[in-house]
Amino acid sequence: MEKIPAHIAIIMDGNGRWAKAQGKDRCDGHIEGVVSVKACIKAALKRGVRYLTLYAFSTENWGRPQAEVDALMQLFCASVTKETPELVEQGVQVRIIGRRDRFSEEVRERLLHIEESTAGGNKLTLVLAFDYSSKDELVRATRKVAEMVQNGKLKAEEIDDKIISAHLDTADMPDPDLIIRTSGECRLSNFMLWQASYAEMYFPQTMWPDFREEAFDKALEVYSERERRYGLL
Ligand code: IPE
Ligand code: IPE
Ligand code: MG
Repeated sequence: MEKIPAHIAIIMDGNGRWAKAQGKDRCDGHIEGVVSVKACIKAALKRGVRYLTLYAFSTENWGRPQAEVDALMQLFCASVTKETPELVEQGVQVRIIGRRDRFSEEVRERLLHIEESTAGGNKLTLVLAFDYSSKDELVRATRKVAEMVQNGKLKAEEIDDKIISAHLDTADMPDPDLIIRTSGECRLSNFMLWQASYAEMYFPQTMWPDFREEAFDKALEVYSERERRYGLL
């Protein structure tokens, strides 16, 4: 495999359908999904991927039944807290993108703690999109840029794509080279609309709880066969 994407972003989908097919509760699907998260982090480290972004909870997901939202919040916090020592050992730096203002104080503190304790990691940046949506991110970025113009720090004609990118949650990160969405759905569901402009897309049928090292390697293989032209000849 010659071409390894510097940044892979994954829309982890299909936990509920996986659980249903096993006659289990939707939450069991989310729990099994955490095992896939760990497997993909390991595989990314092994293959030399520099950035791995995981879409864990969308702003739209707040509209799910309260019991599932609560379970997802708990699972997210418990997993990242439990895994922090191993992430540090593996050289993984965790970065969380999305809004923070709608989480409980406890969740917010945990997120900060995870980011602080893994700040020294230099092998892989693990970006967790949590209460994230692309439109919300773009609205927040636009407000920041508008404020700069209002305060005379920037002229309207100086706004370019670099300025916009620098005010997104993903500032300083390369755009994803490869976006994977599991479970066979072929849509972005409000994920990285700006950053995805030249990403390669891959939509395997595999449900997220079944997406392990082998499936990850298959995605790398598919990517290495793609020809990226960027509008050129
Ligand atoms: C993805 O699995 C996890 C989250 C969106 C949090 P789903 O919960 O969407 O599973 P399906 O799509 O219902 O199978
Ligand atoms: C997208 O999955 C969000 C995450 C994976 C976190 P959804 O299951 O929520 O998306 P839709 O509703 O199928 O578009
Ligand atoms: Mg889904």
